Amino acid sequence: MIPRFEDFEPLLSEEQIKARTRELGRAISRDLAPASDLVVVGVLKGSLVFMADLIRSLPPDVTCDFLRLSSYEGGTESTGSVRFDFDLTQPIAGKNVLIVEDIVDTGLTMSFLLDALRVRKPRELRICALLDKPARRKREVPVHYKGFTIEDRFVIGYGLDLEGRFRNLPYIAALTHEAQARLRAEADAARERSKQQ
Ligand code: IMP
Ligand code: MG
Repeated sequence: MIPRFEDFEPLLSEEQIKARTRELGRAISRDLAPASDLVVVGVLKGSLVFMADLIRSLPPDVTCDFLRLSSYEGGTESTGSVRFDFDLTQPIAGKNVLIVEDIVDTGLTMSFLLDALRVRKPRELRICALLDKPARRKREVPVHYKGFTIEDRFVIGYGLDLEGRFRNLPYIAALTHEAQARLRAEADAARERSKQQ
């Protein structure tokens, strides 16, 4: 069963996220100068809200671009398959490129993206992720700028969705431990039933 909004509890407040985003913006501005050579690449749709705030902490002459990948086929578990839905609109050879993601979870999406962009010969290729869930990592990826490290919990809000919903929540909420346990038990029971058939 898909969890409902009532199954979530607040994890990171708007104020916490805003303050951390400003710090990240300062570090990025310092490291990836000149800003006129910086292309900020948002991975849609999850980075939407975070990127909108982050770029307002960067110098005025950065450029922005977007790409879209599919890795999650719905629900709360990664399927592991990644593909481009659409790509950047400009070449990135010789540019400083900052990939902006909502969350690095298994790392499958990001390692696919790094491989795909590295061959285009950017000068620098760095990753900025609002959230890092290292407990579930399957591929090592360097997260150069990281908002918050979180434990293994499914989160929504501030761009992150559950089956397309809750991206517009202005803060981040996590599935309660009780709801997570209930969902795991339901999934186990369903697996058992399908084994017996
Ligand atoms: P990865 O390939 O497993 O690292 O997953 C990357 C993508 O999965 C992220 O960009 C998110 O869109 C999605 N994702 C991973 N964890 C969560 C979560 O807790 N809530 C919502 N989406 C998530
Ligand atoms: Mg995403």
